[in-house]
Amino acid sequence: QWRLGDFADEAVDAIRQRVGTSRVICGLSGGVDSAVVAALLAKAIGPQLTCILVDNGLLRKDEEIAVVREFTEHFKTDLHVVKAEERFLAKLAGVTEPQTKRKIIGGEFIVCFREEAAKVEDARFLAQGTLYPDVIESGGSPDGPAASIKLHHNVGGLPKELGFELIEPLRDLFKDEVRRLGLQLGLPEEIIWRHPFPGPGLAVRCLGEVTAEKLHALREADAIVVGEIKAAGLYRQTSQAFAVLLPVQSVGVMGDGRTYENALAVRCVNTDDFMTADWSHLPHDLLSRISTRVINEVKGVNRVVYDISSKPPATIEWE
Ligand code: XMP
Repeated sequence: QWRLGDFADEAVDAIRQRVGTSRVICGLSGGVDSAVVAALLAKAIGPQLTCILVDNGLLRKDEEIAVVREFTEHFKTDLHVVKAEERFLAKLAGVTEPQTKRKIIGGEFIVCFREEAAKVEDARFLAQGTLYPDVIESGGSPDGPAASIKLHHNVGGLPKELGFELIEPLRDLFKDEVRRLGLQLGLPEEIIWRHPFPGPGLAVRCLGEVTAEKLHALREADAIVVGEIKAAGLYRQTSQAFAVLLPVQSVGVMGDGRTYENALAVRCVNTDDFMTADWSHLPHDLLSRISTRVINEVKGVNRVVYDISSKPPATIEWE
């Protein structure tokens, strides 16, 4: 029987042998895969590791804080956080087309990452969280379709032109094995069980033009949705749960007056493979709490709707 204990020890040995005394860069995204790669490298070659986190201003509430805390306090890693919110928002100004948003974000991410990586002296290797399904989906080729999705959107895939030698220690693992490995390496459950989050982040959940003000409302609403689902003990059994800020205004009443404010969609799905998905049949009292809190606490939102579409024909994200 395949034992994860052996895997971790063997991976640590292999990394040490390959890296020697060189320095390794690892991009952190806030997601499970990159966190597990970083934890494995921290164990193998600790002081020779530099992690880079690009804060594009499109992350979930407190996401950056959780990752920074873990990798500075627990793993004591050399961590560079690139504060790039303004750069991303400037590039996104006036842009409404979803694929264009993705391209801008993917491109700017690479620029930011490259700039920061250039400051790391003697860096020879780049560690990435490529998993086994990424390898097969791309037909085993680094230029296949799945690789190109990751290339543009994820820390999991940076272009070859960066000039580093790649280290991909999770290439033989499935997601559930990556989670178990992460727990074994001491990562907190909060990071291990975090729902997947798209590379372009909140930009594709803020329909239409992305602005700092809309992102603020979306981030607050999203935190309420996720917080209430966690409080109800339903987070782990839901595959993805998030808020989508709609570019639709509707009439509401507040006290004696009428409001004309944004609508917010709540999207929760259950899925095994993210290729097909069913909407989550959440308890009505939970939906009711989410709605009440969002309308009371998030400025600019006066209506909450629940998305009851399955994939296909709908997709999980709205953009
Ligand atoms: P859809 O919306 O296509 O989403 O049903 C399927 C899964 O993919 C995620 N997703 C993305 N992930 N970059 C990513 O890294 C993207 O541009 C992107 N678009 C969608 C989505 O969150 C879901 O898990």
